[in-house]
Amino acid sequence: MFKILSAKRIAPKEYDFWVEAPRIALHTLPGQFVVLRPNELGERIPLTIADFDRGRGAIRIIFQAVGKTTAMMAAMKEGEYFLDISGPLGTPSEIAAIGTVMMVGGGVGIAALYPIIRGLKELGNRVITILGGRTSELVIMKDECAVCSDELIVTTDDGSEGMKGLVTDAMRAVVSRGDKIDQAWAIGPSIMMKFCALTAADLSLPIWVSMNPIMVDGTGMCGCCRLTVDGHIKFGCVDGPEFDGAKVNWDEFMNRMKQYRDEEKISMDKYQAEVGDLSWL
Ligand SMILES: Cc1cc2nc3c(=O)[nH]c(=O)nc-3n(C[C@H](O)[C@H](O)[C@H](O)COP(=O)(O)OP(=O)(O)OC[C@H]3O[C@@H](n4cnc5c(N)ncnc54)[C@H](O)[C@@H]3O)c2cc1C
Ligand code: FES
Repeated sequence: MFKILSAKRIAPKEYDFWVEAPRIALHTLPGQFVVLRPNELGERIPLTIADFDRGRGAIRIIFQAVGKTTAMMAAMKEGEYFLDISGPLGTPSEIAAIGTVMMVGGGVGIAALYPIIRGLKELGNRVITILGGRTSELVIMKDECAVCSDELIVTTDDGSEGMKGLVTDAMRAVVSRGDKIDQAWAIGPSIMMKFCALTAADLSLPIWVSMNPIMVDGTGMCGCCRLTVDGHIKFGCVDGPEFDGAKVNWDEFMNRMKQYRDEEKISMDKYQAEVGDLSWL
């Protein structure tokens, strides 16, 4: 059992939890994730380790309530327990002294980007961070990302904060003002990562993306998380989650993500019928 040390709502449908997990915290590196089951009735879901505190023996997860399991988790409070958490899982990010890096985050993907930004800054890289969202309140972790970035650019679709436009507009603006970027990362919704990868190709930038296929075991056993990269089948959970964005077969990936839509909707509808109003999420 894993105790919730703190539980906060940080944006509409977005939650920030610190959870007691000393052995996971001890071994975590940026880019890794856990597979978590809230209770005996819940399914297992993968979530990135957004931060870890080895001294306190705790890990941080930041999640968006998009379906039954994440909605159930949103209702959990400090002092309650998750039934099981496995991790750290996945191949860590390639954190090295690279030069100038462009870090692009969207929505709840910012949580996954943050430990990578921090790791790259600690190694002396020049870090230009671009965070985007539909509107200002959905751009999370701005202060924490700013502390470990040389420059922070915020973009919003509605212009409520920072530059009005998409993160890809900011990627182009940074390159066109003359900055030489040695490596880019993009983490966010699949459609955002696809367009970041296309923009990076256009700008001749190498780019890592963090793929979020549906996962079951998270250890390379079930094949559920497979995707095609450079014409080869890869497993998101063990070969990734990070891959070269230029080599991902995006259309196949996005089609696979839709395959359980009907079942996911039935499950959420049943949950809503059980618990009633979910407008507080
Ligand atoms: C390695 C990895 C790390 C992840 N890290 C985070 C994280 O830090 N924070 C976070 O909020 N989410 C993260 N996700 C996505 C998260 O696992 C899903 O949102 C979650 O499984 C949804 O479960 P559910 O039962 O609430 O919703 P479901 O009923 O399973 O799905 C509801 C909706 O969410 C979509 N969905 C389901 N699974 C995923 C998925 N894997 N990625 C994107 N959309 C999905 C469905 O298509 C559907 O529209 C990560 C996924 C992976 C593979
Ligand atoms: S989740 Fe089962 S092989 Fe990756």
